[in-house]
Amino acid sequence: MSATAEASATATPDSPETFSERLRAATWSDHRAAEDHGFTRALMDGTLSLAGYTGMVAQHYFAYVALEEVGRRLADNPVVGRFHHPELERVPALVRDLEHLLGDDWRERVSPTPATRTYAARIEQMADHPEGFVAHHYTRYMGDVSGGQFIRRVAARTYGLTDGAGVSFYVFDGLGSLPRFRAGYRERLDSLDLDETAAARLVAETRLAYQFNTEVFADLGRAYVPDAA
Ligand code: HEM
Repeated sequence: MSATAEASATATPDSPETFSERLRAATWSDHRAAEDHGFTRALMDGTLSLAGYTGMVAQHYFAYVALEEVGRRLADNPVVGRFHHPELERVPALVRDLEHLLGDDWRERVSPTPATRTYAARIEQMADHPEGFVAHHYTRYMGDVSGGQFIRRVAARTYGLTDGAGVSFYVFDGLGSLPRFRAGYRERLDSLDLDETAAARLVAETRLAYQFNTEVFADLGRAYVPDAA
């Protein structure tokens, strides 16, 4: 089964009982939109150029700078603090990957697309909305430790990045077992003390986070996969 088919076959409960089940069920159609995008399809099919892959790594860099700056600012917040985990931080790995892919002058060769600017600005606004920040944290890091692991394997194979340089963004050596980490993350979501308004806001912000990611893929698709639907 292909990684995409495997992802699509993942069941979502019909009647979610916990908050993490609710969050996943309420946002899975948005996940599918991100996953089924022409750019991501080309990535997963192994038809995306190395320049396209590198373009995605560069956009990740700008989004994660915002995510991790706000995350550190909110590390002592009772809601955000329980998700804060230094081993999750991706910016050092992204810098290493960009150095490998583009060379030492990579900073002069990358810039955020319009969708990435909007996405990063939204993450920065979440500094005043801890539950909203959790939505962005969940969307990216849970994705990286889930489907990101398929992307790592495909990218390593497609671009010959088999010694890890260029795909270190997807390597979470410090987290131990990723299935166990994902289970723990869901438990932390379930132990949030959210009233219905806050819960609904977190779900809505997660849907938005997926949409921002899909829009970044759309920018990347226009630049690197112009024939994709
Ligand atoms: C290349 C395309 C992608 C594939 C193949 C893929 C695959 C998967 C798979 C298989 C899972 C389920 C893992 C499990 O059951 O524990 C998953 C979960 C997840 N993915 Fe993706 N994914 C892709 C793209 C994305 C994108 C672009 C995002 C967001 C930016 C994302 C965010 C998430 C999140 C947040 C989860 C966790 C859902 C939950 O269990 O609550 N994924 N993905």
